[in-house]
Amino acid sequence: MRIRTASSVLRATLASAAVLTVALISGCRQDMQNQPKFVPQRGTTFFPSGRSVRPEVLGAVARNQFDGDEYYNTGLIDGKEQNAMPFPVTMTVLERGQERYNIYCTPCHSRVGNGRGMIVERGYKPAGNFHDPLIAAKPLSHYFFVMTHGYGSMPDYSAQITTQDRWAIAAYIRALQLSQDAPLADVPAGAQVQKLSEVSEQAGFAPTFVDAWSLPQVTNVPSAGEMQTAGKAKASAQPGNMAAPAKNSAKDR
Ligand code: HEC
Repeated sequence: MRIRTASSVLRATLASAAVLTVALISGCRQDMQNQPKFVPQRGTTFFPSGRSVRPEVLGAVARNQFDGDEYYNTGLIDGKEQNAMPFPVTMTVLERGQERYNIYCTPCHSRVGNGRGMIVERGYKPAGNFHDPLIAAKPLSHYFFVMTHGYGSMPDYSAQITTQDRWAIAAYIRALQLSQDAPLADVPAGAQVQKLSEVSEQAGFAPTFVDAWSLPQVTNVPSAGEMQTAGKAKASAQPGNMAAPAKNSAKDR
């Protein structure tokens, strides 16, 4: 056992006094921690809407944010469509355009842009075929303009797709047009060119696989006879000794 000397007791007392002082000072500090402020997502009675987070003012431009010029925003110069991009087209721009195109345009225009998307195949008004010489000859900003304002029975996409992305899609449509209609002269010397039907055969499909296709007619209300055959087909397709799904299968997912 150690015997405590007077000086060690004094040291201990001073140390605990110091700790207590620090605790007291920090406990009642009156600095910026106590300023009036809104905690995110917490309501307030100050504004009539009850929201403490103020809505963005329409058309507000953040400091250093690119707001573009008139052509970037409208696709028009002196009221006319132009065959030019308002910013440089890089691979990143094209990839973004492809992604947005595949999301927003393929349902009607199809992935290759021939205007035979699934909605059109099921009865919607035929959408434009981007390889139609008349549409392909349109200036680039025409595509931007159509997305911004709609066209005939096509709705506009200005609410869903940002200005920047609408230009990226327009650039991608040009790439699509090139991909489907490139002349042999564009192929670098020495490169091998194959017919689409040959590519199809090599992939194990019939050569006719690449021809224009059409979906079978659909009937919304099957007749009584069809219902019966469909029911039988389903019953016979059911494997006889299929094990019941395990009770805990949800856990494994
Ligand atoms: C809901 C179906 C639908 C979707 C989705 C759609 N379109 Fe269309 N689009 C149409 C139809 C229908 C027409 C033909 C309109 C007409 O002639 O009345 C058309 C026509 C066009 C035209 C041709 C205009 C011309 O000069 O003849 C362009 C360009 C076009 N769409 C671009 C796009 C782009 C880009 C997207 C994706 C952002 C898109 N569309 C999404 C239905 C659609």
